Amino acid sequence: MQFIVKQTADAAADYVSRLIGEQLGANPRSVIGLPTGGTPVPVYARLVERFRAGGTSWKSATTFNLDEYIGLGPEHPASYAAYMRQHLFDHVDCPPDQRHIPNGLAPDIEEEASRYEATIVSAGGLDLLFLGLGRNAHIGFNEPGSGFDTRTRRVSLTASTLQANAPYFQPGQTQPSEAITMGIGTILEARKIVVLATGQSKAEAVRRMIEGAPDIEVPGSALQQAREVLVVLDADAASGLSGQRIAS
Ligand code: GLP
Repeated sequence: MQFIVKQTADAAADYVSRLIGEQLGANPRSVIGLPTGGTPVPVYARLVERFRAGGTSWKSATTFNLDEYIGLGPEHPASYAAYMRQHLFDHVDCPPDQRHIPNGLAPDIEEEASRYEATIVSAGGLDLLFLGLGRNAHIGFNEPGSGFDTRTRRVSLTASTLQANAPYFQPGQTQPSEAITMGIGTILEARKIVVLATGQSKAEAVRRMIEGAPDIEVPGSALQQAREVLVVLDADAASGLSGQRIAS
């Protein structure tokens, strides 16, 4: 697992947007996995800028989001489908039938999970998977205790994750306590993974992901077993690591 430390969260986001732009430039038909949360917002903003400047097209790309809340349809403002439209898809040229997000309203979530896995396989697998990191080191919605061989499935969210994500819900909106997420096994099959973590609140999770022994209580530590992983950090998120160096 390699990592790079940028001075600021902005510089780290800019770096990740360049990596995604380079992937799409090298292979416009890339299959890209995408996260939600606060951390990726500035990455998407830069990708939109790149698209508008004529740089990065998503016309031939296929995307797969990591997860969705169970019980929220794509029109619900707190759904990850709505998040993706707001931050990326309404502003770039990725055709709707090439964008995939688990259906949180599927009547049979197990069937939806198998369908999602099969769709990733039929697209040829993930060329580049962009990930965030939860404060408890969750990846996607794979909470501590998730096996490293898990596939896309229904999961229950921990109290700390519910609390971390509560600000995304308006007063009066019910926050689901379950989600459908790509599994850790699914994630590990990606050909390349880029993790972005910024801010002091991620420092401990980053340290355990990179320097700790692989442990199912630290879902991010599973990435030590992935084929090619680059962790992009700002100085605050890297502050718990031994021997880090800021890259220009
Ligand atoms: C959610 C998402 C994760 C994301 C995490 C961190 O739980 N399911 O994919 O990595 O939030 O979010 P943030 O970037 O807001 O800290």
